[in-house]
Parts: sequence; C-alpha cells; structure tokens
Amino acid sequence: MAGKWRPDSWRGMPIKQVPEYPDPKALASVEETLRNFPPLVFAGEARRLKSALKDVAEGKAFLLQGGDCAESFAEFHPNNIRDTFRVLLQMAVVLTYGAACPVVKVSRMAGQFAKPRSGDTETQGAVTLPSYRGDIINGMDFNTASRVPDPQRMMRAYSQAAATLNLLRAFAQGGYADLHRVHSWNQGFVEKSPAGERYREMADRLSETLDFMAACGLTSETTPQIRETDLYTSHEALLLPYEQALTRVDSTTEQWYDCSAHMLWIGDRTRQPDGAHVEFLRGVKNPLGLKCGPSLDTSDLLKLIDILNPENEPGRLTLIARMGADKVEAKLPGLIRAVAKEGRKVVWCCDPMHGNTITSSTGYKTRQVAKVLTEVRGFFAVHEAEGSYAGGVHFEMTGQDVTECIGGAQAITETGLADRYHTHCDPRLNASQALELAFLIAEALKKKRVGEVSRRAVAAF
Ligand code: PEP
Ligand code: CO
Repeated sequence: MAGKWRPDSWRGMPIKQVPEYPDPKALASVEETLRNFPPLVFAGEARRLKSALKDVAEGKAFLLQGGDCAESFAEFHPNNIRDTFRVLLQMAVVLTYGAACPVVKVSRMAGQFAKPRSGDTETQGAVTLPSYRGDIINGMDFNTASRVPDPQRMMRAYSQAAATLNLLRAFAQGGYADLHRVHSWNQGFVEKSPAGERYREMADRLSETLDFMAACGLTSETTPQIRETDLYTSHEALLLPYEQALTRVDSTTEQWYDCSAHMLWIGDRTRQPDGAHVEFLRGVKNPLGLKCGPSLDTSDLLKLIDILNPENEPGRLTLIARMGADKVEAKLPGLIRAVAKEGRKVVWCCDPMHGNTITSSTGYKTRQVAKVLTEVRGFFAVHEAEGSYAGGVHFEMTGQDVTECIGGAQAITETGLADRYHTHCDPRLNASQALELAFLIAEALKKKRVGEVSRRAVAAF
C-alpha cells in the first residue's frame, strides 16, 4: 500500500462491488466527459466540514448524518428533496436545543446512488439476473436489458446530484432554514404524530428564546447563524470510475479532493486494507467515513486508520459502527479501546440501520424501530463505560410518509409495510420515526452533559 498515490492508482488493485461494463470504450468516453465537468463541491467546503468534525472528535459537537439509502432517478422531485432536508432540520434543532450541543449536518443526498450488494445475482422464480446496484449503475426492473451496467447512467446521476445540491444550497442559505421558521418545518403527517406534537412544544419555547434574543439585538439580519445553516453532502464512494472523474487538484493547496461530495465513506463490504476503495480514498483530502461492521477486528481497524489518517488529524476520519443491536455491546468495546490505546483521534458515529435488517414474514426487507433504538442506546452505553465520546448518528431516512420500518409511534406493522413501501434498496425511517429518534438521542446527550457538569462540580468542590 505504500506506493505513490495517484487518482488512478486504485486501478489494478483487488476490487469488489464495482461492475464490469460490457463496453469499455463507452465507459472511457463518459469518464472523459465527467473529467471536464465542473466539480460539485469545493475543496474549501470539504475543509470546513473537516474542521467541524474536528470539534466532534473533541467532544464539542455532534454529527447528524442521514438521508436516502439509495437516491433514484424515479423519485427525483423537488418536494422529496425539500421534505428530507426539512426533517434533517427538525432533527438538528431538536438535538441542538434539547442537548445544547452544536450539530454538524451531513446528508446522504446529491450523490448517494451506488449500492453494494450481498449477492451478485438475484433470482425470481426460475430467472436469475445480475443484482440491481443503484441507478448510477443499472436499472431496478427485473429484466436482462435493465440489469446491464450502463455508463450513461453516470451522466444522469451527475446532473441529478448537481440539481439536488443546488436546491439544498438554496434551502440552507436562502431563508428556508431561518430559525424563525422552526414551526413551519413541522408539516403534513409529521405534524399530526406524537413526535410532531412534542416538536411543536419545543418550537414554542425556541420562538420565545428568539424573541428574547431579538430584544437583545440578535436577529436574522444581524446574526447569520439564525438566518442560515450549513448542510454538507456525503455518499459511499463505491463507483470508483465516477469518483476518480470528479477528483481534482485544489488550486489553493495543490492537494487532491474528490469533488463529488464533501464527505465520502467506505462501505463495510469494500474496506479491505489492500483493496481498491481504500487505496483511492487514502489519497483524497476530504473527511472520510469508514463503516465498521461486526467482522472488523482490531488489527485491521488500526491498519485502516494508519492508511486513511496517517497524520492522525482529528476530523479526517469518522468510524461509523454498524454492529447490530445484538452485537454492539460485544463488538464495540474492543475497537474503542484499541483506538484509544493507540491515541488515534477519530469521530465515533453509530449507524443503527445496517446491522438490523431483517425480512418480514410478508417478504419485505425491513427494520424494527425498537432494534434501531436499542443499538443507539447500546452505542451510548458502551462509550460511557469506555470513557469515550459517542459523537454522532447515521440514519437511512426520508421525509416521506413511507411504511418501510416496523414500529414507532405510528405502530407500523408487518402487514402495514405493504402500504407505502417505496425504497430502492434498504428500508428507511419515515420522517416521524426519525424525529422520534432525535428526541430520544437529545435526551441521552442531555443526560450525559448534565452528568458531566455535576461530576465537574463535585470534582471542583
Ligand atoms: C449503506 O450505508 O447504505 C451501506 C450499504 O452500508 P454498509 O456498508 O455499512 O453495509
Ligand atoms: Co443501506
């Protein structure tokens, strides 16, 4: 791995989950076109996120990462983008206000198209076809033509990512995210849910606080932090030909950045220390995520940290634990201890989705909200016991009123899953389930803060 890094040095290394395109010339031509397209994000923005994540690594802020499992061409609509943005804002405000903790917001949007799959093929009845790998690679329809990897899909993904990002920037900076609109983010089915009601009460208190601040001279006009917010983008850097084509040298620092998103992560299936994905990502300077599943042992984790963050820069690397509710207490402590013992500065984040996927008796891929919550609680408890900082959460969620995960206050049942099951890949929390979780996490964070303050007071006595 010690060889010289180049944007294409991953080529020729063992690679998983990236398809063989039937027409290499067509692939090369798309890559060349993309190489000449504008970057989607700027290096300076990625650096700003890295610095915000440094605060998380140091226990001074909390990371909220969430969005679609897989964005799709079919669900591309401004309302869908707005609704997911809105629930992220609601969750962030619950966490910021409830726990008095700055929240770094990172979406799984504007580029989250490629999916790793457990099996290379899918069988329905007597027919076996290559698996669907996300709209940037092939089609979901179960027929031979649609499952052929088509490089032209990268062009469409790029254009959808650009348009999505454009709208997100407008929402974040153009007035929609002004804290004075805190009530207006509570809409539709969410507003009528118990979490929505609880949110309204909190928003009332927040409005009073804003009135008080206005009386002191702090308004949207005087204070940009009230008027606008920062929302960063992220996705799994899986389809390396696409990622390489968007990788550019930053003119101010002369360093390479993958300008397809602010933050990129390596999936649990592609984190081999001598594999192509690790090779590619070690060379770009963006903040990185690394999914840590139950099969990851301490020696591989330390090896990966050495490769991905050789300068031990806080904010560079976020370890996204996705152990499963039943394994988190057994698997996580060893990893946390090894990282702490070696003095490695990382953000620890909890993905309570990917270790808790099951198939319902009615045949749907689903997750129980209760298990999701159990894993979050386990993650917090393990960090508390190890004296380490539980720095963030990572959710698959949508602003839509889907029925893909079981439970929550709406009490979605196995049979209810059929009502509005729209995901292209994994089951997502709907907006009210996501908001419910935000309240529970805010409580956990608050308890921890109050505990720390009283411990400090006792120590100082
Ligand atoms: C994902 O985040 O969509 C994913 C596939 O995760 P993991 O690599 O952890 O399975
Ligand atoms: Co997923």
